[in-house]
Amino acid sequence: MDVSVSPFASVPNPAPMPEVACVSETESGINDLLPRIESALESACRFDPGCPDRLAAAIRYALLAPGKRLRPALVLMGAEACGGPTGLSSSAMAGAVAVEMIHAYSLVHDDLPAMDDDDLRRGRPTLHRQFDESTAILAGDAMLAQAFSHLASHVSDPAMAVEAVNVLSRAAGPSQLVGGQFDDLAAESDGHERSDVASLEHLESIHRRKTGALISASIDLGAVLSGGTADQRAILTDYARDVGLAFQIVDDLLDFTASFESLGKRSGKDASRGKLTYPGLLGLDPAREKAEQLVESAKEKVSVFDSAGSRLRWLAGYVLERTH
Ligand code: IPE
Ligand code: IPE
Ligand code: MG
Ligand code: MG
Ligand code: MG
Repeated sequence: MDVSVSPFASVPNPAPMPEVACVSETESGINDLLPRIESALESACRFDPGCPDRLAAAIRYALLAPGKRLRPALVLMGAEACGGPTGLSSSAMAGAVAVEMIHAYSLVHDDLPAMDDDDLRRGRPTLHRQFDESTAILAGDAMLAQAFSHLASHVSDPAMAVEAVNVLSRAAGPSQLVGGQFDDLAAESDGHERSDVASLEHLESIHRRKTGALISASIDLGAVLSGGTADQRAILTDYARDVGLAFQIVDDLLDFTASFESLGKRSGKDASRGKLTYPGLLGLDPAREKAEQLVESAKEKVSVFDSAGSRLRWLAGYVLERTH
């Protein structure tokens, strides 16, 4: 199958490879990390004999599509903040690849007809539209398993590998990412019948689980895979808790305010599906203020890392300012 032939000939100018803001004078952005991350992802797309060509093509289509790579970058930033290596063959890079695999699988499944039923992702047709539904389900399954296999085979220190698997599997599991996705879908159909206060608590819980957990796990993996101390891990996890919630609030805001051309995915879907979202519940300005408070709090939390934490401060600001 020629995966370059899109059934979406009418899609206006699919979003190009995102430019992740601009790197400041202090070089504290993530642009210098991106080529290394892309190269590691590309290398991770060589499968053992037995993987059907069409399945391999589907995995590559989803994983190598132009995402922002914020989660793998966070793994490397967490490692950097703890003084660890972040090169192509580092354990931290193995964590970065594993996290992006989990993220890519979650997006493929999130877009399925039984879930958000989306037709565009990362500036292209979603995987089930470009291939077919069963291939998308199986490609997602494969990336989920492959993430852990990649960690197990690329992290040489056994204790680090076990802890990394522990952190990532919990974040991806039934009480975190999958549980959050479950409640996100359930909230579509329950008509938001709770009081506003109860809805806000429920919404925060959904966002922290469906999105925040993997963002927290990303930075924690960086710390684990570079021998970070318990204190360092606690500070980084605190930071990521704020960034993770802010990230999903901004995702909700962008769904209200941005266009496909800037987002690379359809906007206006949350309201039409009756999703429980921050702007839907609080209004645009209070939702934005909540994200701003979280980002300020996140920046403060990593001030103890001085220059080693400068990328983390940059990333918190980027989460707020991003346009896609
Ligand atoms: C989209 O995540 C899904 C959410 C958790 C909101 P990203 O906005 O990081 O998507 P990509 O990886 O850049 O495509
Ligand atoms: C997706 O949240 C969260 C996960 C994939 C786990 P959304 O449904 O809001 O993400 P988008 O807007 O489709 O990217
Ligand atoms: Mg969703
Ligand atoms: Mg979605
Ligand atoms: Mg969204």
